[in-house]
Amino acid sequence: MFREDFVWGVASSAYQVEGREEGDGCGKNIWDTFTEEGRIQDGHNSYVTCDHMHRYKEDYALMRMLGIKAYRFSMSWARILPEGTGRVNEKAIALYRDMILEMKKNGVEPYITMYHWEFPQALQDKGGWLNEEVIDWFAEYAKVVAENFSDICENFITLNEPQCFVGLGHLSGVHAPGMKLPYKDVFQIAHNALRAHGKAVINLRKYACRPIKVGYAPTCGMAYPASNKPEDIEAARKTLFGFHQPMDNWTWNVAWFNDPVFLGKYPEEGLKKFAEYLPEITEEDMNLISQPLDFMGQNIYNGYMMKAGADGEPEFVDRYAGFPKTAANWPVTPECFYWGVRFIYERYKLPMFITENGMSCHDNVALDGKVHDPDRQNFLDLYISALQKAVDDGADVRGYFLWTFLDNFEWDKGYTERFGIVHVDFRTQKRIVKDSAYWYQKVIESNGANLSINQKPRQILFLDPVFKQMIWGGNQLETKFGYQIPGDKTGECWAVSAHPNGDCVVREGIYAGKTLSEMWKEYPELFGNSAYDRFPLLIKIIDAKDDLSIQVHPDDAYAGEHENGSFGKTECWYILDCPEDAALVVGHNAGSKEELADMIAQGKWSELIREVPVKKGDFIQINPGTVHAIKGGLMILETQQNSDITYRVYDYDRLTDGKPRQLHVQQSIDVITVPAPSADDSVKSALELPKNVMHELISCDYYTVWKLDLDGAISFEQTHPFLIMSVIEGEGLVNGQMIKKGDHFVIPSGMGQVDMQGEMVLMASTAK
Ligand code: BGC
Repeated sequence: MFREDFVWGVASSAYQVEGREEGDGCGKNIWDTFTEEGRIQDGHNSYVTCDHMHRYKEDYALMRMLGIKAYRFSMSWARILPEGTGRVNEKAIALYRDMILEMKKNGVEPYITMYHWEFPQALQDKGGWLNEEVIDWFAEYAKVVAENFSDICENFITLNEPQCFVGLGHLSGVHAPGMKLPYKDVFQIAHNALRAHGKAVINLRKYACRPIKVGYAPTCGMAYPASNKPEDIEAARKTLFGFHQPMDNWTWNVAWFNDPVFLGKYPEEGLKKFAEYLPEITEEDMNLISQPLDFMGQNIYNGYMMKAGADGEPEFVDRYAGFPKTAANWPVTPECFYWGVRFIYERYKLPMFITENGMSCHDNVALDGKVHDPDRQNFLDLYISALQKAVDDGADVRGYFLWTFLDNFEWDKGYTERFGIVHVDFRTQKRIVKDSAYWYQKVIESNGANLSINQKPRQILFLDPVFKQMIWGGNQLETKFGYQIPGDKTGECWAVSAHPNGDCVVREGIYAGKTLSEMWKEYPELFGNSAYDRFPLLIKIIDAKDDLSIQVHPDDAYAGEHENGSFGKTECWYILDCPEDAALVVGHNAGSKEELADMIAQGKWSELIREVPVKKGDFIQINPGTVHAIKGGLMILETQQNSDITYRVYDYDRLTDGKPRQLHVQQSIDVITVPAPSADDSVKSALELPKNVMHELISCDYYTVWKLDLDGAISFEQTHPFLIMSVIEGEGLVNGQMIKKGDHFVIPSGMGQVDMQGEMVLMASTAK
């Protein structure tokens, strides 16, 4: 679980949200130039963005309403120091002070990022990050920040994502200042940026009017292992801190930008690989870079899977076709939040903040005026759940800043990507809170208790049946239901079963591969926290090519005592198909136990047993103690207690593998009810029933069974501890998923509304 004082925040940067106005005194920065040069997608500009500089009061009020506890935002260097050094723009100081005070008034704790890529153009003109003077320029800026804001802000971050501004700005050139410099220069820039960070840390502390907390916010893709095998875990760890990147992409590296800051040295592997391009690196540099920090920030968006190859060396695992992606085409890999956080924490051992994480979606205002963004909610849920797991396994994570609050200016992509939990209409500046923001509000309120890791997601559980070969079985489970059966004497399809003699497996979804009995044990809330110690019911389809034995079942008391704690077996049958003039054995004609024993001993079967005529669509309840038998030619859907105890009285002297099957005469005599109740009213026709309603066929001590003839659409609230459904005819949809004859599923407790449509016949049941 997350710490009580876990910091739930949102993050943004100055340039992406602020906007500008005539006379605000703001100096030009490299992104202004980049925009003017027309380098932004679709020719978008950055003059207004979210107009946050005029609307921050409203924006912080919105944060308050959504329960947001902290805001990580950046200050624009060139707004504060229009020429990058020297003259301070007092209007900027006043603006940022007012912003911070307003934030605090709304219960939102400020976290200042000093540099989120807004490099002053005046300094760019002097060589920018390549000029070693940048170390002093940035330190001067740190002094101004500390002097002006440390009285009202406690947390400071120096650089945001050096990997990006070094690489995208100076190697690939897709970000401002749009340069493609030789490797030597790019390494110099990286080294300068790290030294600038160090000197800024010193000045932030030196000029702050009280003790402050200082951190740093690098980024990178995180490696995660293909399995929990130690060799895969090591393959992922080694790759994460290694140097696999091609030279033209070298800046996407974790260790190069983290080790110097947190461990005081550049990694050996990198020093070797990059030797020919490196500037002179002195001990003094390393001391400067590795100023002690109070926390480490880490921006994490995604990762890649690694495994140990045959030779033990790390191997990349390809993503499967159709791998989930965000609108920005970034992979959705929540595993990176578990493994990445663990790997990083284990190496650097500093309290961590996730300083950014989120996703871009194709969000639109819906016809109901709201913005529904379920993909973002799922993404965040999976990621933050993985984070909780990392915390539970020992990572000291203190806070999480969701990227981002408002849809904003996404750098070179302009306004084409929406990362916000609040929708912004850039024509009118109207804000609309997206569904994900309301969801995040609940995460914050409950300190994560509403995350799926704590609240198991409700999904319909589709089960794969287990088939049983029987002496009397046939092949209609294949010909009529389309199942792949193990042989042409397949008598039983255990369609919904958690019995050890045939435990069904969840076919798909997040619980895929779990048996129903595992589901029952591990996720009791999905079954309404039922008081039963095991899944109480068993649903079978029976294909009787030949007669089944004459048999009887015990009740709970008898089975509990004589059958190792088994449930007894109360059951009921719905006749799916049968020949004309079919019959079932139900009941007997003995008047006393003595007579019963006598008739059995003498094999007077035709005198003893009673037969009742049945037809398709008939329904019959079989209580324990009832002598019964299914006759050849019948197909039946059986709903029963979860038990595999049957006492055979007579098996027509048949042989299996040359031997007769075991009989249980004494137990049968023990449990048979004498005299048998009349069978006259026991069979009722359930073939033609009113359509589109759940029609109750029986409600006994153990279960309720319904039949549903669907022709059209229905919606209902699933209010039972769980609801088992079997499609016995036709096809249709349940909550958008195709279902057809032969499908069986369990709708868990708390699933909410269930929508069904189609032309289908279903049998449904739940336990009492
Ligand atoms: C940056 C943000 C950016 C976000 C989404 C992060 O790398 O810090 O400024 O908007 O990613 O691309």
